[in-house]
Amino acid sequence: MAQIHVIQRDGSKRTIEAPEGEPLMEALRDENTGVEGTCGGTCSCGTCHVYVAGDWQGKAGGRSDEEDMMLEALEEYVELRPGSRLACRIEVSNALDGLEVEIAPPVE
Ligand code: FES
Repeated sequence: MAQIHVIQRDGSKRTIEAPEGEPLMEALRDENTGVEGTCGGTCSCGTCHVYVAGDWQGKAGGRSDEEDMMLEALEEYVELRPGSRLACRIEVSNALDGLEVEIAPPVE
């Protein structure tokens, strides 16, 4: 398990446990942090958008072209930041123990 520090949409902070080898989206969704993951992790809904804290962006890996395209599609509705990621594209690992993410606003 990796500990993930989460800033929720209301500004409150929580620490959740996320199983290694699973997409971060699933832990955030299952812990009711505001992440919906409505596409089930197929990179097609954007409801798992999070902002990865600066120090962690390198460790969380790079964005794929598919992820970039989905984020670009969101840009019209929600602020993108350098740390914008789709949590379904981040695989939890030991290296991410202590990761800090903020849940992005919902797409409306
Ligand atoms: S869960 Fe739909 S894009 Fe990540």
